[in-house]
Amino acid sequence: MIKIAPSLLAADFSNLSGELRKVSDAGAEWLHLDVMDGAFVPNISFGVPVISSIRKHTDLFFDVHLMIERPLDYVEAFANAGADAITFHYESQSDPNATIDKIHALGKKAGISIKPGTPADVLFPLLPKLDLVLIMSVEPGFGGQAFLTSALPKIKAIRELAPNLPISVDGGINARTAELCREAGADVLVAGSYFFGASDPKAAADSLRR
Ligand code: DX5
Ligand code: ZN
Repeated sequence: MIKIAPSLLAADFSNLSGELRKVSDAGAEWLHLDVMDGAFVPNISFGVPVISSIRKHTDLFFDVHLMIERPLDYVEAFANAGADAITFHYESQSDPNATIDKIHALGKKAGISIKPGTPADVLFPLLPKLDLVLIMSVEPGFGGQAFLTSALPKIKAIRELAPNLPISVDGGINARTAELCREAGADVLVAGSYFFGASDPKAAADSLRR
């Protein structure tokens, strides 16, 4: 079962209620929330106050993607803000095991993401502890970039080792690249500009599933 996770980064921030309605009307299961600190990535997006505000307006599953240098210091704040899954970067400064354990102690699902330059095998020892793996198919920091096919063998490698683990892919997803990701074994497709830039977001979401 494929899940679609529209990325709020590409939404109209002056009309978040309307944008959230697009997500639920399209039948998307998850809402992907990109948190950027201007240090781990060269961009700043939004943080805890925005997530806790929108939490009051939707029951969507909140898939929080932390692109920040010290995720361990902030997972509690994002859990309290209403995250359902918290994904942090393997390349961040926080210890992966300690960060996973803290997310679990807060009662949330734990995910790790790797950037395009990081090999999949760094995640192998962590797979039994994880609820989600997020493979970046662009350099994190900005929406609207072109899909990097180097993500595909990483998805395949993780899928072989962990047949039932949700694998998410993030960056440059459209109908064509979604098909490649599904074939490789991904089951959560994050889409920012392809979803929010579409004149018919429901048709866009449907095109990612088949
Ligand atoms: C990039 C973010 C992505 C981004 C995807 O750092 O993690 O979630 O919003 O945007 P598109 O789908 O436009 O590539
Ligand atoms: Zn993301």
